[in-house]
Amino acid sequence: MFKSLTNEKKIITVNLFQRYLNFVREESSYKKDQNHLWCFEDIPGPKSYPVIGTLYKYLPYLGDYDAEALDNVALLNWRRYGGLVKEVPGVRLLHVYEPELIEAVFRQKERYPARRSHVAMLHYRLSKPEIYNTGGLLSTNGSEWGRIRSSFQKNFSSPQNAKQYVYDVDNIARKFVKWVKECRTSCNEDFLPYLNRLNLEVIGVIAFNERFDSFSPNEQDQESRSSKIIKSAFGSNSGIMKLDKGLLWRYFKTPLYRKLAESQEYLEKISMDILLKRIHFYDKEKDDDDKSLLASFLQLPNVDFKDIIGVMVDILMAAIDTTSYTTSFALYHLARNPDNQNKLFEELFSLMPEKDAEVTSDILSKAVYLRSCVKESLRLNPVAIGVGRVLQDNVILKGYLIPKDTVVVMQNMVASRLPQYVRDPLRFNPERWIRNSDNFENIHPFLSLPFGFGPRSCIARRLAEQNVSISLIRLIREFKIEWMGGDLGVQTLLINKPDKPISLSFTSRNM
Ligand code: HEM
Repeated sequence: MFKSLTNEKKIITVNLFQRYLNFVREESSYKKDQNHLWCFEDIPGPKSYPVIGTLYKYLPYLGDYDAEALDNVALLNWRRYGGLVKEVPGVRLLHVYEPELIEAVFRQKERYPARRSHVAMLHYRLSKPEIYNTGGLLSTNGSEWGRIRSSFQKNFSSPQNAKQYVYDVDNIARKFVKWVKECRTSCNEDFLPYLNRLNLEVIGVIAFNERFDSFSPNEQDQESRSSKIIKSAFGSNSGIMKLDKGLLWRYFKTPLYRKLAESQEYLEKISMDILLKRIHFYDKEKDDDDKSLLASFLQLPNVDFKDIIGVMVDILMAAIDTTSYTTSFALYHLARNPDNQNKLFEELFSLMPEKDAEVTSDILSKAVYLRSCVKESLRLNPVAIGVGRVLQDNVILKGYLIPKDTVVVMQNMVASRLPQYVRDPLRFNPERWIRNSDNFENIHPFLSLPFGFGPRSCIARRLAEQNVSISLIRLIREFKIEWMGGDLGVQTLLINKPDKPISLSFTSRNM
């Protein structure tokens, strides 16, 4: 059409087009000058199409995203677009990589910080009002979340409360080490299933005063109670992220939704069995020795059994995989870095010259090197690639106006591995966290946040850190460990699962 115009008309058309471009440019700079702000659409990010947004990026052949390697996707986007990346996969999404900006998001004064996750699980639980009042801590937002969080918080989080479990957890860890010594025949076997069993036992005692007897020969069967709890916890967690992105389950029960529902149903049944057992027991006699979380929940004035069931299922879902993956990665880094492992052993040897000595809260508080090993391992391999929040007000980040209701993903895992924030970032170097060490680094406090931040952070942080520490103390005090596999990466299934078996060899220490 342009070809058929006379030269004069062509010149007029080009001029008009040029004037239109100038007008658009002036308009956008006017927009910035007027408000001193850019709008959300101006943030760099992958191309988005009507209706599907950026979801095409997950399609085979068409897209370059791998839903189970979201850490790589996040790194790719940071390289392409920088420290703030916009996406529109059905919802308005913003990825934030710079620690100063992460801090700015977390410092919003929100009474009830909100996350957009576990949407299908929320739907499932709300469809069973005879069992649940809410979607539980993980999926509920707003004042209902505030009510359950403030009711259950104290029993979970107080340092005093965590200390009272040291003795019981240490006893379980000791038996575990004995069991590892007796039963591990092949070093090619994956150690993760063993850690899952250990952490089920640990949370069983802390949360419910319940022994699952996970290491007995009967319980090794795939159909046993402990095997099915571990499978259901994983079955719940592993589908959450895909269901959060999907829509079909809202209209009919997709196979993934059914798997989530079946897994939740099993955890529900176990929680109910335990709850009824405790209630009947307390009906007959008072048990002053029961210091489990459940015993304290039953004393709470403003919660009912349905609230308690919701939190019990949350605990079974949230405690096993997270703690086992964290311990796995810590063992991996220590096994691959014998110098660091030796330093840790020396610290433990000086704190516990007799290896059969009891682990106490005093030993835990003095184990500085151990703490820095856990911190460093969580910097490199946090359980979550980042933490999400739904903005409840407009926020300004780097001159952009980010509207209320935007879902913000703080990309802590990728940021924690960038050289501008951490020296030699891919090296496992626990000393960088130790103040009086030559290698100490002043790392931004919002860079590595493995338990999240603020009122919505992990409710069980103290317990989780304590449990991982006790397991590591027992294993490293008893064995010299070596890594038998290749590089270990992550499979991002809501939480970061090791992408290969945990291949360790254990040699008993004679000291
Ligand atoms: C090393 C182990 C663990 C890690 C790294 C971890 C990490 C996290 C993270 C990152 C969050 C989200 C925080 C946020 O949004 O700011 C979270 C939430 C949560 N965690 Fe953990 N967690 C661990 C162990 C546990 C354990 C053992 C339990 C239960 C006994 C637990 C129960 C929960 C619950 C219920 C929430 C939701 C809290 C809420 O939304 O109010 N976690 N955890």
